[in-house]
Amino acid sequence: MVNSDLSLEEPETKHLVVAAKKVLRNNILGTFTKPAPTLYPHQWNWDAGFIALGYARSDFRQACNELTSLFRGQWSNGMLPQIVFSPESRGKYFPGYRFWNTQGVPEKPRNTRTSGITMPPVHGFILNRLLQLAPDTKVYRPYFRRMFKRILLLHRYCYNFRDPEREGLAFICHPWESGMDNLPAWEDVFTRINFDPSEVPPYERLDLEHVDAPYRPRKQSYDRYIYLVNRLREQRYREPETLKNYPFQVQEPMFNAILSYSNEALLELGQWLGLDTGEVSEWETQTKRALNSKLWDKQQGIYVSYDRVHQRHIPVATAGGLMPLLCGAPNAEQTARMISLLESARFAGTSENPAWLCASTALDEPGFDPCRYWRGPVWINMNWLLYHGMQRSGHPAMAARLRSDALELVRRYGFWEYYNPWKNLPPGETTGGYGSNNFSWTAALTLDWLGA
Ligand code: SER
Repeated sequence: MVNSDLSLEEPETKHLVVAAKKVLRNNILGTFTKPAPTLYPHQWNWDAGFIALGYARSDFRQACNELTSLFRGQWSNGMLPQIVFSPESRGKYFPGYRFWNTQGVPEKPRNTRTSGITMPPVHGFILNRLLQLAPDTKVYRPYFRRMFKRILLLHRYCYNFRDPEREGLAFICHPWESGMDNLPAWEDVFTRINFDPSEVPPYERLDLEHVDAPYRPRKQSYDRYIYLVNRLREQRYREPETLKNYPFQVQEPMFNAILSYSNEALLELGQWLGLDTGEVSEWETQTKRALNSKLWDKQQGIYVSYDRVHQRHIPVATAGGLMPLLCGAPNAEQTARMISLLESARFAGTSENPAWLCASTALDEPGFDPCRYWRGPVWINMNWLLYHGMQRSGHPAMAARLRSDALELVRRYGFWEYYNPWKNLPPGETTGGYGSNNFSWTAALTLDWLGA
C-alpha cells in the first residue's frame, strides 16, 4: 500500500516517477502533450492544465508550453475550446474538426482548428500553482502576465455569455463541457429533450476502436451528444442569442467551483502583477454565494446541478458535487455533511464491499456502473481536486485518504484513464483500470503528488 508520506528515495516511488515521466514524454505531440496515445490524439482543454503540473518541477518550459499551446485556440469572445486540433496528429478522432465545422466562425482564430464548446476553467488555479513552482519568477513574469490576461478573458466569457441572469453561476451547454461527459445526471436532462432521431446526423464512433463498448458511453447517450453538437454548429456557435432556445443549459457545481477557485487565483496573480482585478472580486463573492443558495442539496448533503431549461434540480450525487470544497464555499456544517457522505456506504462502500474514494457517481445511484466512463469509476484528477478541497477546509486526514487511494490504484494497475471503485474486483477480473492506458493526467498528477 502506498502511504501518504512517500519518500522519493524509496525504490517503488522512484519507479513510479520514472514510469510517469515516460508516459508524458511518449504522449508529446509537437508543442503539447496528448491526453492519451490513441483515444485522444489532439489537445484537450482541462487536460492541458493538469498535464502542465506534471512538468512543473522537471521541465518548467514544457509546463508553460502546454498552456500557451492551448490558448492559441482561444476565441475572440474569450471562449477556450474543449479541443484544439493538431494538424500534426496522425490519430483519428470523432468528432473531428470537420464535424465541428467551426471553420469560418468569426470568433475562432483563423489559423487554429478547434471545437466549438468549452470545459471547466482550471487554468487560473493551474497558473497560480505554476507561479509557486517557477524556477525564476522574474524571467517568467511576461509569460504570467500574458496568460493572466487570456484567463481573465475566459472568465469574462463565462460570466457574460453563460450567466444571463447574472446569478454568479455559469451554465454548460453540453455534457462534454462538464468534463464529466457521461454522468447519469445528463440522462435526466436528455429524457426531457424532445428530438426526432432523424435530427442526429450520421456519424461513426471511433472511440470504440480503442476501448471496449462496456467502458464507454452507450449509443443512446452518444446520439444525444451529437444531436447537441449539431444544434450548436447549425447555429454557427453564435452566443448568447442562440442559446436562448437551446435545450441543454445546466448550472453544474464543479464547473462553478473551479471557476471560483480560479477567480481566487486571478486575484492573487493580479496582485503580484499589479493589474486591476475589480471585476474578479465581484465574480468571486457572487459565485461562492450562489453555489450555496442555489446548488446545495440539504437533503443529501452535497451540491447538485440545476437544469435551467426545465427549471429543476438534478438530484444525482457525484464527485463533482463535492468540488465546492475547493473554493471554500461550504461552511463547517456543510463540509461535515460532505465528509460523512464520503465516509458512508454511498461512497466508501461497506466493510464487506469497500470502495476506493472517490467514485465519480455515488455507488447507490441508479445509473451507477463501476466500469463505464463517468458512471462510477474513480478518476485521478477528481481525487486530486478533492484532495486540495479537503486540505483547504481543514481535513488533512480525508485529504490523505483521497491521495493514497489514488496512488494505490496507480501503483496496482498503472496509469489508466479511470478505475473500478470496488476494492474487491469480480472473480476473473485482472485489472481495475479502464479506458485508455498511459493516460497523461494520471501520470502528471501522480508526479505532482510525489513532488517530482
Ligand atoms: N472526452 C470526450 C470524448 O470522449 C470529448 O471531450 O471524446
